[in-house]
Amino acid sequence: MKISFLSAFLGLSGFYTAEAQLSNANNVGPTSALSAKSKLCNVLDYGAKADGQTDIGPAILSAFNNCAKAGGATIYIPPGNYAQATWVTLSGGSHYAFQLDGIITRTGTAGGHMIIFSGATDLEVFSKTSKGGIQGAGVYWHKQGKGVYGPRIFRFVKCTNWSVHDLALADSPAFFIVVE
Ligand SMILES: *[C@@H]1O[C@H](CO)[C@@H](O)[C@H](O)[C@H]1NC(C)=O
Repeated sequence: MKISFLSAFLGLSGFYTAEAQLSNANNVGPTSALSAKSKLCNVLDYGAKADGQTDIGPAILSAFNNCAKAGGATIYIPPGNYAQATWVTLSGGSHYAFQLDGIITRTGTAGGHMIIFSGATDLEVFSKTSKGGIQGAGVYWHKQGKGVYGPRIFRFVKCTNWSVHDLALADSPAFFIVVE
């Protein structure tokens, strides 16, 4: 299951022009273009540091709650190496994007999901450079004998009109994307 989903996902990542035109063709995916989400909510302005060790979790949540949730905005994670020690749930929100151009590596050891998008509509999750992604570091999880069901990377709960494209999800301890 895990492996076949990974290869399906990597196949998808080859389309670097997916953006919102998915919706133009088939009425799937986000209903508005990225140009309509131009207010940048840079996580570096909300406490993130590209130092490979500062927990980016609170900065993502703060950028969402204080900047992106109202819409017309993009949570922006610039190129660089980040660590994620605590998990976040982005509740609600519409008409926003999540642009991951850096690499986030899992350092936290809780179960659950690293990032949950819940109840959002018109949501686009992507990497503009196709070089952003999340390193789940599952090999360490399993080496520690912590069991099969480690944390997942993304979970989408009751979201409508959304897409994920052009980013890499590597070595999740359990599933890469859960859609509920
Ligand atoms: C999702 O998109 C469809 C097609 O554009 C639209 O009819 C529908 O109202 C949208 N749903 C929400 C919750 O905005």
